[in-house]
This record gives sequence, C-alpha cells and structure tokens, in this order.
Amino acid sequence: MRFIVQPGGCLRGRAQVPGDKSISHRALMLAAIAHGDSEIRGLLPGADVIATLEALRAFGVDIEFTPGAVTRVHGRGPQALSAPTASVDLGNSGTSIRLLTGLCAGLGLPVTFTGDESLRSRPMRRVAEPLRRMGARIECSEAGTPPVTVGAGRRLRGIDYTLPVASAQLKSAVLLAGLHAEGRTCVTEPAATRDHSERMLRQFGADLRIEGLRVCVTPGAPLAGSSLTVPGDLSSAAFFLVGAAIAQGSDVELTNVGVNPTRTGILECLAAMGASALCTPVAADAGAEPRADLRLQSAPLRGIVVEPALVPRTIDEFPALLIAAACAEGTTSVTGAAELRVKESDRIAGMAAGLTALGVANEPIPDGIIVHGGRLRGGTVDSLGDHRLAMAFAIAALRAEGPIEILHCNNVATSFPGFAALAGGLGLRIAVRDGA
Ligand code: S3P
Repeated sequence: MRFIVQPGGCLRGRAQVPGDKSISHRALMLAAIAHGDSEIRGLLPGADVIATLEALRAFGVDIEFTPGAVTRVHGRGPQALSAPTASVDLGNSGTSIRLLTGLCAGLGLPVTFTGDESLRSRPMRRVAEPLRRMGARIECSEAGTPPVTVGAGRRLRGIDYTLPVASAQLKSAVLLAGLHAEGRTCVTEPAATRDHSERMLRQFGADLRIEGLRVCVTPGAPLAGSSLTVPGDLSSAAFFLVGAAIAQGSDVELTNVGVNPTRTGILECLAAMGASALCTPVAADAGAEPRADLRLQSAPLRGIVVEPALVPRTIDEFPALLIAAACAEGTTSVTGAAELRVKESDRIAGMAAGLTALGVANEPIPDGIIVHGGRLRGGTVDSLGDHRLAMAFAIAALRAEGPIEILHCNNVATSFPGFAALAGGLGLRIAVRDGA
C-alpha cells in the first residue's frame, strides 16, 4: 500500500484518535491473568494489539472482541493459561513480544514467539538476560533476535535489576515475570519511561512499591478483573499536532488523549519550537490514566536542541517531530536517542533518507540526527514498512512544494487503523493506493 499526498492545505476540526497502543496491550494481558471478568473500553483495534489478543486466545483466554464495542476478557487466573500447540506469530509488535515473553517466563508457560521481518530483527537479549538471571530458559537467535522460545515449568526467583537501557518494554517484561516469581523483583531504570504497567498493575491489585526510578513487585496478591477505559494515543495524536503546527491556518482539537507525564515530551518540544497545545484536562476515574483535549493552531516554528533527558518521554514521536524540525527556522538536534535505531525500522536512517529525498538537509549521527529547517520539495520516500515514518511523511505534505508518495504503508494499521480517513477529514489531501 502507498500513500500519495497532495501538497498544501491545512488541518482544521475536531477528532478523536484511536486508543493508546501501550495501554491496550497491558489491559489485555493483565485482564487475561486476573481472576474474574474485565471490561475494556476504547481498546485500540490495531494489528499490534490484535496480535496480543490472538496470542492470549492461543493460551486459552476467553476474549470477546468487536472493534468499536466494549472488549470483555473472562480471566480465570494465571494458572488457567495453557501452552499453545504452535508457535505464536506476533506480526510487527515489539510490545507484544517483550511483555509476553516476560509474562510466559514467569508462568513457566512454554511457547515460541515469532513475527514479521522487522520483529525478527528486534533486540531480545535485553529481555532474555534478566529473565535468565531469574532462572528462566529463554532461547533466541544467535543475533539475539526472535524467534524467542520460553522453556517450560520453572519457578523463577525475584531479582534486583538495573536496566541497561531506558525501556518500558524491558521494565514491564521483568515486572510481569516477577509477578509469579519467588520473592520480590525490583527494577531500577536509568531514566523514567512510560509507567502504564505500574499504574495498571496497581489497578488490578498487584503489590507494587515505587520509589523514584525503582519499582518493586511482591508476588502473591491475586489480580482481580477490572474495568478500564483506554485514552486516545498521544503518539497518534502527535501527527496531527505537528501537522497543525506546520500548516498555516490550521486549528485542530484532539479529544480525550492520554497525557501521562511519561509520554508528553512531544508537547514540550512543540511548545519550545513555538507551538503550544492548549491542554484541557478531561475528568477520569480515580486511578485512571490522565487524559485531556488538546488544541493546537499553526505557528512559526524555530529549531530546538532536544536534550537526552527528554528522549524517553518523546521516544515514539521523533518521526513526527523531525517533520516539524524540517519546517522550522534554524537547526534542530536530537542526541541520546540511539534506541531509535532499533524500533520498527532504523528510524534515524529512515528519517534521514526520507528528509534528504524531500530536499531537507540533515546529518544522521549514531545516537540522533541534526535537521536543518528549510523548504520541502515533493518526492518519493520509503517508509521502510514503519508505521510512524509513513504517517510522518504524509503530514509533511502539508508544507511540501509537490506531492509526496510514500511507499510500504501497510503497517500504519498496526497503531492507527483509519489514519488516512481521519487525516483526510481534517484536511490532509491523502489518497491510498495498492502496490509497493
Ligand atoms: C512501549 C515502549 C517503547 C515504545 C514502544 C511502546 C511500551 O519501547 O517505543 O512503541 O508499550 O512499553 P521501548 O521500551 O523499547 O523503549
């Protein structure tokens, strides 16, 4: 699938982006091991979340799912999960493979996880290493990538582990394994990453203690089915926030978006560039993730220095942010972001190549990129099958001098089903074509 986006125009109107991907995965997993029924409203019906859902069904979990309706998970406790007969294909989904590997290791549930070509190049040693220290048998390829096999039947020991990288997936994998280990498991992170697992574990009744960058889970507290509402995904909203910022005459309001402070780096970056979002909090139930309506109007942008400290809170928004950088006056530099090289694609190389194809001067560096703002011409760019690159380059057309053709866009549906229709409704001149 290709996108062809005509240049110019602006974004105007009100929209609700689909549910948060990170929260959706966690809601399904915790509901699956809880005792009793859970109701999940606003679950993201994206391919990545469906991969988690189908994996849990393969473990014997009864889940009622219809896109757009309430998802009901009939949890019967962790012991009710059973080993699947075949290997489980998790498609493109890094969150699924990291978190489910931790969960299955903790339960001693033998399984092999695999995925598409991108997933089969994602680092898994970072997850295997702490799980092995806990006593799990984990095998992956010689390169430390999937397929990943979890060995049967071992009771794990709790560990005290310091993460070598700021990764919420890694933190969550160890905590999920720790839920069913013997003794307490503590994880210390080098910088604060998204804390959706911690919030949701508490909501389901887990015994969790958090002190600064250290979080400890003590096994034994049974999880109870719960009812929760998934907010809109700020990582999806980011494309329209950037689109509105760069396209003169824009004024968009995105309703009910998750604004967990561990995720809001993009709002701070855009504000520093000159485009502040008006953030109106939306009342939520106690314990629920914070949410807000976000309104943003176009503004002249200036380049910024994104400090490494802000990187974990902005990690998925760099493709969109670099489009804002391309449209800003002056230079934007990002450092301390080597993790971008091991996402669904090498996002530093992919963004650098795409920006160059559009005539934007940039310098990729090992742990980031420098972008010199200027004019964007039209052209053809390859999204490398990376959903966030595809959507970022689509939004760039708002400021381009000619049409932008974006190749390999199928995976947009992993995180944002209906992106083209929603973007079109707000004013993006986007057409979807078969092929490439
Ligand atoms: C995620 C954590 C981040 C992020 C990914 C989702 C999660 O990955 O990039 O899209 O749901 O925990 P890392 O933990 O690898 O940084």
